[in-house]
Amino acid sequence: METVVSGIRSTGHLHLGNYFGAIRNFIQMQHEHQCYFFIADLHALTTHPKPEDFRQSVRKVLVEYLAAGLDPEACTLYIQSDLPQIPELYLLLNMYAYVGELERCTSFKEKIRKHPDNINAGLLTYPVLMAADIIIHKATKVPVGKDQEQHLEMARNFVNRFNHLYQTEYFPEPHAYNFGKELVKVPGLDGSGKMGKSEGEGNAIFLVDEPEVIRKKVMRAVTDTGPGNPGQEMSEPVANLFNLLSLVSTKDTVDYFKEQHDKAIIRYGDLKKQLAEDIIMFTAPIREKVREISANDDYLEQVIALGGLKARESAARTLKEVRAIIGFTN
Ligand code: TRP
Repeated sequence: METVVSGIRSTGHLHLGNYFGAIRNFIQMQHEHQCYFFIADLHALTTHPKPEDFRQSVRKVLVEYLAAGLDPEACTLYIQSDLPQIPELYLLLNMYAYVGELERCTSFKEKIRKHPDNINAGLLTYPVLMAADIIIHKATKVPVGKDQEQHLEMARNFVNRFNHLYQTEYFPEPHAYNFGKELVKVPGLDGSGKMGKSEGEGNAIFLVDEPEVIRKKVMRAVTDTGPGNPGQEMSEPVANLFNLLSLVSTKDTVDYFKEQHDKAIIRYGDLKKQLAEDIIMFTAPIREKVREISANDDYLEQVIALGGLKARESAARTLKEVRAIIGFTN
């Protein structure tokens, strides 16, 4: 059993790509490992959100992750800012993080290029805060995508520097982790790439999209000029639609349309209608849960209180030991 930590960014709605990717990963892991999942609200402050938007976005992610299947009994689910130990460890870790390496970080360079008017120190030290999130529970595994690999590498550097400086093996090295089986890649509706990758409005199906919206998006999905000749290979946009269909439909349905395609008699309109209805059916229970949970403030408060309690227990233990290692007098 490993200790797993992952931070959830509080931006945007969850889409089908998240559902078959990161969330599935979380849901499986929560039963097999000691998992700490948190909403990274402190990280979100780098962009200076308005208090009301900030509050709403944290609530929205919490509701959607719960609706998608995160189980607050199986994992420890909390809000980052509910752990005062994280900013304390972050301050301490800043002493072992060099300005040069922080400035060389790809995500920092990208942010200063995109937002030259808001190059704040919080952005620069984003990887230090992320390292604090992880090692506050002495985690060894971090389920994140490729884009976070460099941040994890920096976390390992801070850990090793700390351990070396104090001649201890206190912190284990955290490594990226994805649940065993290959993650399902979910294509978007714009004919190429990954769902959620392009900003385009209709590319992603959000779990909270109403049936009408789902129908509209699917009917507008990119296909090609026609089925071509019998036995002809599928174009990428059409293969993407089949890919989506295989995630939400029965095998019989997929086989039926495959056959239609291979005989070159397929009507993309029919395929899309079926796909839309099956996505609607597939996502309906999640939408229902979103409605149920968002109407239940008591439940949400309870979840957050319990998660915070469990997480603070682990965090306080680590910090106490770290303070002793550094030499604070208590
Ligand atoms: N940086 C991560 C992201 O952008 C979010 C995050 C913050 C995180 N703290 C973390 C992920 C700790 C894993 C562990 O997605």
